[in-house]
Amino acid sequence: MDFELTEEHKMIKDTIRDFAEKEIAKIADKNDEEERFPKETIKKLAELGFLGMEIPEEYGGAGTDSISYVIAVEELSRVCPAHGVIVSVNNSLVCYGLNKFGTEEQKKKFLTPLARGEKLGAFSLTEPHTGSDASNLLTSAKRERDEYVINGKKVWVTNGTEAEYILVFAVTDKEKKHKGVTCFIADCSLPGLIKSPPEKKLGIRSAHSCEITFENYRIPAENRLGEEGDGFKIAMSILDAGRIGIAAQALGISQAALEHSIRFAKERVAFGVPIIQHQAVVFYIADMQTRIQAARFLTYYAAWKKQKGERFTKEASMAKLFASETAMWATTKAVQIHGSMGYSREHPIQRFFRDAKVTEIYEGTSEIQRLVIARHTLKEYEKILG
Ligand code: CAA
Repeated sequence: MDFELTEEHKMIKDTIRDFAEKEIAKIADKNDEEERFPKETIKKLAELGFLGMEIPEEYGGAGTDSISYVIAVEELSRVCPAHGVIVSVNNSLVCYGLNKFGTEEQKKKFLTPLARGEKLGAFSLTEPHTGSDASNLLTSAKRERDEYVINGKKVWVTNGTEAEYILVFAVTDKEKKHKGVTCFIADCSLPGLIKSPPEKKLGIRSAHSCEITFENYRIPAENRLGEEGDGFKIAMSILDAGRIGIAAQALGISQAALEHSIRFAKERVAFGVPIIQHQAVVFYIADMQTRIQAARFLTYYAAWKKQKGERFTKEASMAKLFASETAMWATTKAVQIHGSMGYSREHPIQRFFRDAKVTEIYEGTSEIQRLVIARHTLKEYEKILG
């Protein structure tokens, strides 16, 4: 057992921290206010290899391990959680899925430009009437000779406005329930794929998400990812990886909450002393640090299992559940420590507070994570306890 980061991990951490502090910190609040997608910095991150981190070099990726990816998303989110999720979606909801389930041709054609960051990817499962109940889809895909015709509507498609390729899940056989769901690689340049303007959100406002409507949208059959009926399992498997990314995003948010709180509490004076000297405040700091460390261990452990090639569904859900609830808790306390300054849009801490909430919702709500963890735990204990 080894709790040390390797030299490569440290190098990646320094590089991404430096980039985030020099290039992103100065634009994060303004982008949030203006709900502006950070095209320029995402392009630079692509050039540095952060858009397809775990993808082999032969498919345009950086070939790093999963811990490096967690470090990168955490460091970006420590400064700007919107950058964290844009990068996370491309890496784990799109590139990971294409690398795991794509054919050689699909990897060359779609994965390579996505991993290089020349094109951006998105993942569209959720529909207006269903989010948690993910197999209950209405979007349909009908085979017509060597094409599929897709009709339906998706919502909350992160990166949707900017994406050129989108993994879309549609029903090819209604009777078969989740076994009738199929995954496709939608090419946004083809007619019949209509994007809405960015959705209006509480947080991560510069990471655009949108509705996507498919109206007799035709794509070649070779754009099908996996076999007909494999879609639900593909979605679940991809979300396992995605949830590690969101855990890392939540970790970065919590880390920001801690650092802002310490900085503020050392300067702010009340009752004749800096408020850091008041037990009420310093106990919050102690609890933040403890919860962050626990969240970090859970997240790194899930990533470690993933890179070993083992099933990591339960570990990813545990990491996401704990890290996202830590982010919400830590930012709530951070706003409290900042007092009225925490409530002001002049100070970045309110941005982290707003950004934290979504980590408890997207890529599976906290309730869904509990369901996944409970199902896996009960199965394990069935073996132990009978
Ligand atoms: N990996 C591989 N296969 C899996 C799996 C996984 N992690 N989880 C389930 N499966 C398989 C099961 O083994 C089962 O297979 P069989 O048919 O062979 O038995 C099949 O999938 C069905 O599984 P369940 O019976 O567990 O399915 P369920 O209907 O009970 O649903 C669920 C389970 C956990 C609730 C699931 O629906 C779920 O995760 N819901 C949340 C969806 C979600 O996270 N949505 C977020 C969308 S993305 C987003 O947020 C927007 C964005 O852009 C960031």
